[in-house]
Amino acid sequence: MTELERQKEYIRKAAGLVQGRGLRYFVVTFGCQMNERDSEKIAGILEEMGYLPALQESEADLLLYNTCTVREHADKRLYGRLGVAKQIKQDRPGMLIALCGCMMQEAEVREKIRTSYPYVDLIFGTHNLYRFAELLYERLSEGRRVVEIWEEHRDLLEDLPKRRKYPFKSGVNIMVGCNNFCSYCIVPYVRGREYSRDPKEILKEVEALAEDGVKEVMLLGQNVNSYGKGLDRPADFSGLLSEAAQIPGIGRIRFMTSHPKDLSPDLIHVIRDHEKIARHIHLPLQSGSSRILSAMNRHYTKEAYLDLVARIREEIPEAAITTDIIVGFPTETEKDVDDTIDVIRKAGFDGAFTFQYSKRTGTPAALMEQLPREFVQEQFDRVLKCVQDTAKERAGRFTGRIMEVLVEGVNEKDPAMLTGRISQNHVVHFPGEGQKPGEFIEVSLDECHGFYYTGHVVKPTGKSC
Ligand code: SAH
Ligand code: SF4
Ligand code: F3S
Repeated sequence: MTELERQKEYIRKAAGLVQGRGLRYFVVTFGCQMNERDSEKIAGILEEMGYLPALQESEADLLLYNTCTVREHADKRLYGRLGVAKQIKQDRPGMLIALCGCMMQEAEVREKIRTSYPYVDLIFGTHNLYRFAELLYERLSEGRRVVEIWEEHRDLLEDLPKRRKYPFKSGVNIMVGCNNFCSYCIVPYVRGREYSRDPKEILKEVEALAEDGVKEVMLLGQNVNSYGKGLDRPADFSGLLSEAAQIPGIGRIRFMTSHPKDLSPDLIHVIRDHEKIARHIHLPLQSGSSRILSAMNRHYTKEAYLDLVARIREEIPEAAITTDIIVGFPTETEKDVDDTIDVIRKAGFDGAFTFQYSKRTGTPAALMEQLPREFVQEQFDRVLKCVQDTAKERAGRFTGRIMEVLVEGVNEKDPAMLTGRISQNHVVHFPGEGQKPGEFIEVSLDECHGFYYTGHVVKPTGKSC
């Protein structure tokens, strides 16, 4: 019996305990797109067992938190939510609480949950997520707490059932883990070593998604540019992307995340040459100071980063470039932050996520002397202001243009309006004319309101993908 068959067998066995009872589940996802995709697998398994989705936490018979630990703030949010979950459980005896994801890979977190949160029923990690059916069956049939964590991945099982959040778009994992060990980052410790999936498997998954009505896929990895290393037959990311872009039915392809040190000229050409590949590159800068970049173990300099941005702009002038920035890395000075601000001005980012450095136990940077909080806050405010000013300057650059939009849904505030995204990832709101989510249409971007546009439909694109 293969592992996949084994897990399907456990889904059937659990279904025997679940079906006909009208049990409901609710999954709360913290963190990145990888976790979002993992939650879709969890939901898929649960629905196959016979669980129904609950509309809110307080209606759930199984409440699962898929955790993130990239910054301390993420950890705090989980503990806050667990307090609420405890209250809900007091009113709903028999309800199960499960925890999984990156935070569970940390020994001290597990210890804390084990001892101080006795009402948590099931704990598993990132590497054994595919064993969820078996672990839940164990909990359901034996009635005692189940904890299973692996330190490294053994198999990569992607073929389990999945319940997509959106019918028309989907993430696709092309690799797991990370080998970069940026000195501030906990991800390599909780997601393990980098491991690329076979390109044939990935393309098969994208084809199956296209057949199932998906119009947009996002290829996911912590550093997609190093995709293919370690595979028996050599493959690289630009080749994979180019093949994926030719799959009929898929109208748009995104990817996340690119590490600047590995972004090849080939990749820029592939994006330029394939209209279906989104004109959006998320290219985390982290810092504009070459000295800090070296201390962060990022393997590029300020100049190399700016060069890369210039090459992208030259080859793909329409591309939106967004970034991540960390302020307050140990030893960072005002002058280092000036360098970051200089890069922000010169690169002209379309958007930037700005984070205050968060000390993560077990990383090399945690052993360095940490900077005073007030100093970090001051520097952070300077960077944030610069990010906001440059984004504002660039935001309106598509005003008056007619652009292809993928309709994503009805506007939350005004049901007469639809919401969609252009290839550059900007959001557009416009009055609907009967269009459905998943349709490509041409929209005139009439007005820019900072982070989004408003516009009107010009015509369907007629894009059959
Ligand atoms: N693999 C991606 C990023 C994953 S984490 C990459 O390398 O680009 C997402 C973002 O969180 C990072 O880009 C970084 O800006 C931020 N981040 C990671 N660790 C952090 C820490 N310890 N403190 C603050 N921000 C952090
Ligand atoms: Fe973390 Fe660096 Fe890996 Fe990104 S590339 S996940 S920042 S170690
Ligand atoms: Fe968080 Fe894990 Fe993603 S730590 S950012 S959920 S890989």
